[in-house]
Amino acid sequence: MDVVIAADPAGAAKAAADIVARALRHRAVNLGVATGSSPVPAYQELAQRAQRGELSFGHARVFLLDEYVGLPRGHAESYHQVIRRDFTEAAGIPDSRIEGPRGDAADLIAEADRYDHVITTHGGIDLQILGIGTNGHIAFNEPPSSLSSRTRVVALAEQTREDNSRFFHHIDDVPQLALTQGLGTISEAREIVLIATGAHKAPAVAAAVEGPLAARCPASILQWHPRATFVVDAAAASQLELPAYGRERKGTRDRG
Ligand code: GLP
Repeated sequence: MDVVIAADPAGAAKAAADIVARALRHRAVNLGVATGSSPVPAYQELAQRAQRGELSFGHARVFLLDEYVGLPRGHAESYHQVIRRDFTEAAGIPDSRIEGPRGDAADLIAEADRYDHVITTHGGIDLQILGIGTNGHIAFNEPPSSLSSRTRVVALAEQTREDNSRFFHHIDDVPQLALTQGLGTISEAREIVLIATGAHKAPAVAAAVEGPLAARCPASILQWHPRATFVVDAAAASQLELPAYGRERKGTRDRG
């Protein structure tokens, strides 16, 4: 596992965008995308590079990690809408190339299976972008989550509902359930980049990077992945203990 420590969120956004850009050049057409605030500066950076003609999402298809149960696709806080607002519209990726689980499906269990199948039939995720919850969740895999879980319906932790209530009028409006790719599903991505910024993420980053591989910290599953990079800013890195992590250096991280 690689850990890249940038000075600030803008540096983290550039470092993460560099990884995505390189993957697009080499192979990535299926891009897994996380919602939440952490990847937004990287999405903006990528969209700007696309607008300047420095990279192209012309063949890319994006795959959402998760979706709130009960919100129709058109709801402003459905992750389908959020990713359009935060990324795909500016990046020039049409709606027809956004895949995601439907939180308003009548049969949620069948919908979870359908979405796993959609990912597989498109050949799997080439590069997955992740954030991390303050409780160590990735996507909506709350602690404890089976390390081999598949896409499924989950109950959101109260901590997550509180964290995400800033996007809703009131915490009671935050859905109780979500559909999420499982840790096993996410682990099948060929490459993963997790973005975390801010001191409030420091305990979760430390547990994920240096703690035991354990269901109580779902992001620790990335220790098992052959090609995972944590891109963090100095504040999010502040509780890491091991000395030998990479500092962000311009243009030096071509792993092919
Ligand atoms: C949500 C999403 C996660 C995201 C997390 C952190 O719960 N389901 O995919 O990583 O929030 O969000 P933020 O980056 O806003 O802290």
